[in-house]
Amino acid sequence: MNREIVVVMGVGFVGAVMAAIVADTVDDTGKPSKFVIGMQRPSARSFWKIPMLNRGVSPVKAEDPEVDPMIARCVKEKKTLIATYTYDVLKLADVVVVDVQCDYLKAELGNVRNGETDMAALEASLGVIAEHIPPDALVLIETTVAPGTTEQVAYPIMKKIFKKRGIETDPLLAHSYERVMPGRNYVASIRDFWRVCSGINRTAKERVVKFLNEVLNTKKYPLTVMDRPIESETAKIVENSYRATILAFLDEWSLYAERNGVDIVKVIKAIKVRPTHSNIMFPGPGIGGYCLPKDGGLGVWAYKHILGFEDDIFKITPMAIDINDTRGLHVGQLTRDALRNMGKPIASADILILGAAYREDVGDTRYSGSEIVIRKLAEMGAEIRVHDPYVEHWWEFEQQDTYPGIGQSKAQFFRNQEKLKEIRVEQNLDKALKDANAVILAVPHEAYMNLDPAKVVKAIGQPAAIIDCFGILTDDKIRQYFQLGCEVKGLGRGHIQRIKDEIRRV
Ligand SMILES: NC(=O)c1ccc[n+]([C@@H]2O[C@H](COP(=O)([O-])OP(=O)(O)OC[C@H]3O[C@@H](n4cnc5c(N)ncnc54)[C@H](O)[C@@H]3O)[C@@H](O)[C@H]2O)c1
Repeated sequence: MNREIVVVMGVGFVGAVMAAIVADTVDDTGKPSKFVIGMQRPSARSFWKIPMLNRGVSPVKAEDPEVDPMIARCVKEKKTLIATYTYDVLKLADVVVVDVQCDYLKAELGNVRNGETDMAALEASLGVIAEHIPPDALVLIETTVAPGTTEQVAYPIMKKIFKKRGIETDPLLAHSYERVMPGRNYVASIRDFWRVCSGINRTAKERVVKFLNEVLNTKKYPLTVMDRPIESETAKIVENSYRATILAFLDEWSLYAERNGVDIVKVIKAIKVRPTHSNIMFPGPGIGGYCLPKDGGLGVWAYKHILGFEDDIFKITPMAIDINDTRGLHVGQLTRDALRNMGKPIASADILILGAAYREDVGDTRYSGSEIVIRKLAEMGAEIRVHDPYVEHWWEFEQQDTYPGIGQSKAQFFRNQEKLKEIRVEQNLDKALKDANAVILAVPHEAYMNLDPAKVVKAIGQPAAIIDCFGILTDDKIRQYFQLGCEVKGLGRGHIQRIKDEIRRV
């Protein structure tokens, strides 16, 4: 049918939607121009994504209304998208898009420096690709990698296998990182957004530019083409380290605000109006998501272990990640103090966490700030329950012995974690609220933004400690909670004491 065959390796949060975007591509006459095969290894964690995609159902849950119909359309109507676990499909590929994970494992809580990059899945994928692909297939690595990986890890792996196969030409390797934001603009954040790319030689560069021009909206969002892959790889790491840093920067000012009667949320709002400072952001109870906690670590690690330097030039990047990784611990203290003010020791308290995801309106729990909050509260003896409208299973707890990998759970950094395996995410808010001693607003999901204090307290059945971790409560709501007999505390919200004093005086 004259369609280019694109194999997308790894149909996770990035690959599943990228595969659909490529499969949705049409030529000038409006006919589909690509046939996409999602190649997913049948691991215990991910095998189910294959039959799901083949039924036209998205393996990722998203708030973006474009995701589900796009996948259904490509699989069922256009018939341009299928999924499989068979590596043999790589033999058909004109283009391979690599969207497998490359992890960074931390051996200590709050110390990114003594962690290490885990590129086993990526290295295995590259080996399999080199064994199967036609020599002139473009291999586009979209995975966020430690800088230097495309040229100094991927290239040698593939070149050696090509040699064994009797192929003399160089593999056509390219790098272009994803800036995807799962959530309301999931599809647009891939398709209608700027991309940076590069290739290991002229042909690879030309091929990646051609491919991205065909599948993405580059007319409106032009490509930035870098000289070498290490520059594209570095751009991703610096981009995310920058974001991790501006978030970490507010941690100390958030504490300062709590101790000096200042509402950090209003301070940020005041600053934000200045156009040069418009990306100042309140960090919430921690910086999760798959990328920000690890990407700076990949860079610091690469400097030593791929690029071969012995000195240590990094100060801000690792410090920012360490601050973000431990920010949630402070919520334990706020909750303890609020409960104490109500005459309830934390060790005998039932605490409800509202929000398991790492950010608003997504179902992704990877490295979410709420996990640290819960682990700390459990360490202090509290009983934990969780509500989240987007999350069905919180594997970080339910399967903490083996998830995200054996020996990788954050449970190892805390005591008293065993019972957290019993956590089941409740979807019914009223049921979750019933009899709770404390309610922690941990994620600004839409469902939590306008909760009515009177209804909340009624559903609980008694006044409770309300802890606001994300600047969710307006002053008026804070006032109402106090009037209903609750105690209120919040990250960075030092003005709460003033509201409390006002109400006491009345
Ligand atoms: N999730 C995000 O918001 C986001 C944003 C920007 C960049 N990224 C980057 O994109 C990359 C992928 O992230 P993700 O969130 O999609 O991860 P993910 O874990 O959801 O998906 C990776 C998938 O690859 C599969 N896989 C692993 N080895 C394989 C193999 N040998 N063959 C076939 N499939 C294999 C896994 O089973 C999994 O389904 C990462 O480097 C990440 O840093 C992610």
